[in-house]
Amino acid sequence: MKTLEIHGSKGDSFIHVGETLRNLGKYIPSKNVVLITDKNVKQYYENHFPPHPLITLQTGEEIKTLDTVRDIYEKLVEFEADRSTYIVGIGGGIVCDIAGFVASTYLRGVRFGFVSSTLLSQVDASVGGKNGVNFKGYKNMVGVFNQPEFVICDLNLLKTLPKKELLNGMAEIVKHGAIEDASLFAYLEKHFQKALDLDIEVIEKVVYDSIVIKSAIVNQDELEKGARRKLNFGHTFGHAFEKTTGVPHGEAVSVGMVMASAISVKRGHLSADNAGRIKTLLQKIGLPVSIHAEEKRVFDALKKDKKRKGDRIYFVLLNTIGNAFVDQIPVKELEIEIHTFG
Ligand SMILES: NC(=O)c1ccc[n+]([C@@H]2O[C@H](COP(=O)([O-])OP(=O)(O)OC[C@H]3O[C@@H](n4cnc5c(N)ncnc54)[C@H](O)[C@@H]3O)[C@@H](O)[C@H]2O)c1
Ligand SMILES: [Zn+2]
Repeated sequence: MKTLEIHGSKGDSFIHVGETLRNLGKYIPSKNVVLITDKNVKQYYENHFPPHPLITLQTGEEIKTLDTVRDIYEKLVEFEADRSTYIVGIGGGIVCDIAGFVASTYLRGVRFGFVSSTLLSQVDASVGGKNGVNFKGYKNMVGVFNQPEFVICDLNLLKTLPKKELLNGMAEIVKHGAIEDASLFAYLEKHFQKALDLDIEVIEKVVYDSIVIKSAIVNQDELEKGARRKLNFGHTFGHAFEKTTGVPHGEAVSVGMVMASAISVKRGHLSADNAGRIKTLLQKIGLPVSIHAEEKRVFDALKKDKKRKGDRIYFVLLNTIGNAFVDQIPVKELEIEIHTFG
């Protein structure tokens, strides 16, 4: 097991990679704990949960709403939860985002931690202190920045994860290598198959290295005013594709990274060779590098991007593999790219 630390403005967070759900009891009080999970995770792993009251959520992005939050507050009242109650989210990004939001707001905030059960939540969602829910169809519209006290990344839990969920996480790992760590990227080029097969040594290394990158960026810029924007590599186009076509996040971001690499080449920053390496790695992993989408709808979605400022948009470009920077580029230029790409 390896541990990483995040220094948040409201407290520190310890991320334990390679720790197991069975040891959860070591990290929480012996009483006055409430567990929150979803029905899939419960079905596979309930017998490893410590004996505390359990709230089980349904699954899917549709349940990430204030209604679900309200239902949980009601259960907490029923359980007579008070300021000393400790909340633990056991699940993927959805469970952790909701559990973190509930814990941050119930009675103005109680202590909380996560057991992260998907690859995406291990390398992305549970690192960085963003907790929240969707509102009126807008993703993560209502939320808070607040770090969990601990995150357990149990790599054994990934064995039951459907392949498409594994790929969502892999896309973010490739992203971390592309923006910040050339050696992680080269390692993935060599060992991607073992990572997909969940070879314990390989998956532990790529999850750990990925969290090192995300946590270093979050430590510099917890509230996303500068460096943290780099984590959006591939996500400007990615979010637009996700919204307009409904493909899974990782697939959308994969295509987004290919397009952001192409723009980086056109602007004279990235070599065509390196853009080719990114595309090839994504393809080998089994992620798409092109997509069918209606140009106009994608462009409309882009224009609504939170990172837009007038007719320019904060966009993440690469100088080389392992070195990203953010520039404000004209929305028009993105439109041209959609057109050439489509
Ligand atoms: N807070 C952040 O910084 C941040 C970052 C990235 C993503 N997110 C959010 O995370 C969410 C996506 O998270 P996700 O991809 O983990 O999705 P998810 O939580 O929906 O999990 C994916 C599916 O896998 C199932 N599952 C979870 N663990 C399992 C296991 N070990 N074995 C078998 N099945 C399992 C779940 O029940 C679900 O059906 C989105 O809502 C996104 O907005 C948040
Ligand atoms: Zn993402």
